[in-house]
Amino acid sequence: MSGVGATAAWIAYARAAETLRTDRLFTDPLAVAFMERTNAELLAQLRASPTSRFDVLAVRTKYFDDYLAAALAAPAVRQVVLLAAGLDCRAFRLEWPAGTRLFELDLPEVLAEKELLVQECDFAPTSCGRHIVKADLTGDWPAALRAAGFDPDLPTAWLVEGLLYYLTAREADGVVRVLTRLSAAGSTLGLEHVNNDTYRAPWMQDWLAQMRTEGRAWKSGVAEPERWLAGHGWRAEVTEPVGVPGATGRQVPQTPSRDVPGVARTWLVTAHRTE
Ligand SMILES: C[S@@+](CC[C@H](N)C(=O)[O-])C[C@H]1O[C@@H](n2cnc3c(N)ncnc32)[C@H](O)[C@@H]1O
Repeated sequence: MSGVGATAAWIAYARAAETLRTDRLFTDPLAVAFMERTNAELLAQLRASPTSRFDVLAVRTKYFDDYLAAALAAPAVRQVVLLAAGLDCRAFRLEWPAGTRLFELDLPEVLAEKELLVQECDFAPTSCGRHIVKADLTGDWPAALRAAGFDPDLPTAWLVEGLLYYLTAREADGVVRVLTRLSAAGSTLGLEHVNNDTYRAPWMQDWLAQMRTEGRAWKSGVAEPERWLAGHGWRAEVTEPVGVPGATGRQVPQTPSRDVPGVARTWLVTAHRTE
């Protein structure tokens, strides 16, 4: 995997690290298998001394696990789409209600590598029908999604995790606009983004420069997720990692309340279709 696709590997490493902790928030066997094959040395280090370095990603994962469980608690919602799925293992590690169809969309090279790993490890989806969709989210991805069997007349639980800051504001808005068009009544949206102050935080500058140099620049943020999503027809509830149940005792940014300006923030969003 190269370019922005390589970021899927980092998230897998973070989830493998979490899986090795005794107080883990989830267990991700695909991430561990991926790390065994690509960075056995780091895996051995993590086994020897578990780390808190990736707590914020573990908390984010837990937040969206809970989001999906809540979304699928509605009997009408049996269609799930993970946009920019990367090495997401939820099809293999979460329990899904009977009849759930889950679509994983990402760039062709990322899904090709993922499928090799899935086959090699003989992973099978727990209880959902799993469909992979090789597509670019800046292109005609709805056509690819429909061709894979997605039905826009059925309510969908969407997940957009770890993606939007790799897109320009216009592209990110386009993804939301298009998925909204594909969202029947009763659909839900789980989404992660950052605010614009993230780009001004001194402690982010080295990371942002590294991302630019490596060709996976962070490009956008949103100041008011509720307002942005309301404009697209969604009622959003927004939290930050520090507000996630399960974050207690974890090393996540202790962000102050939202009326304090100038603070770098990660938005964790659950939204419901209003139209
Ligand atoms: C940080 S990873 C997150 C993966 C996954 N959502 C997770 O949390 O494990 C970002 C993912 O976005 C995907 N991505 C970035 N730009 C994309 C695009 N234009 N079209 C499709 N996928 C894209 C990358 O290939 C990568 O898998």
